[in-house]
Amino acid sequence: MNIQNIGVIGAGQMGNGIAHVFAQAGFPVLLQDLTEAFARMGLATIEKNLQRGVDKGKLSAEDKAAVLGRVQLTTRLEDLSACDIVIEAATEKWEVKKQLFETLDSVCKPGAILASNTSSISITKLAAVTQRPGSFIGMHFMNPVPVMQLIEVIRGLATDDATFDAVMALAAKLGKTPIPCNDFPGFVSNRVLLPMINEAIYALYEGVATAESIDGIMKLGMNHPMGPLTLADFIGLDTCLFILNVLHEGLGDPKYRPCPLLIKYVDAGWLGRKSGRGFYVYSKA
Ligand code: CAA
Repeated sequence: MNIQNIGVIGAGQMGNGIAHVFAQAGFPVLLQDLTEAFARMGLATIEKNLQRGVDKGKLSAEDKAAVLGRVQLTTRLEDLSACDIVIEAATEKWEVKKQLFETLDSVCKPGAILASNTSSISITKLAAVTQRPGSFIGMHFMNPVPVMQLIEVIRGLATDDATFDAVMALAAKLGKTPIPCNDFPGFVSNRVLLPMINEAIYALYEGVATAESIDGIMKLGMNHPMGPLTLADFIGLDTCLFILNVLHEGLGDPKYRPCPLLIKYVDAGWLGRKSGRGFYVYSKA
């Protein structure tokens, strides 16, 4: 399967990162979002992140321009009809994704692969809204996408071998490491990560230690790049709560019960770094 033309749905944090790494690997990318303003904001973030490399002498200004030149923007899903693969990184809402995939299935050419970057919605269930469940797969990138090595590749119940092999090979062409798993709530990454974050929030809630102490102990003691509360703020507390609810409902085990403090913060609009306040306070610059 020769994958050349890449479509990305959603120009937010994950979508612009995905478009960035494909364009940097030499692929032409069509980046779609609901409005031109959203799509342009995504492109501006790619520009800003590429500039980090230029400033450090790791990328030339010409190479940066060439990467940006490979990213085209659109607001129309129909424009993705020529793509060999479309990777969806829209908002984590079932209804939104369902509608998107129904439309993509009708506009994309036969044989094109449909992939979702969902952090926890069932790949099997998403695949079932299309007429091509064999060509449907999960490609779960990690944030920040240009930096993180892993792509968690999730096989839905019906994903065929040709699709799986093509996506594993494509991920390697990005210089990333694809690691496969099967479709269960939270896959592997979030099934293991979110209970740790939730437990750190319980530790704060029960007064075991301050946020700084919990993060310091985990960062220095376990050699993690960020403490769990800093990481929760980085991921977004609404996203953390969403994933915990998926684990709790999907696996039915009370050990996944979201900490009441997390629920309270999300209710307050304290969503972490993106809202300026979570377990820590951030300047909105
Ligand atoms: N785009 C491009 N480059 C970026 C970047 C971005 N958004 N963010 C950081 N970088 C680059 C920096 O330019 C720097 O590059 P060099 O090594 O070439 O100098 C490098 O990354 C390190 O960045 P910093 O020096 O600014 O900061 P740092 O050393 O503290 O690293 C970090 C920042 C990479 C985010 C690090 O703290 C880290 O790895 N944190 C953990 C991230 C993590 O766990 N991600 C997974 C979240 S879970 C998820 O995504 C899945 C889900 O479904 C919830």
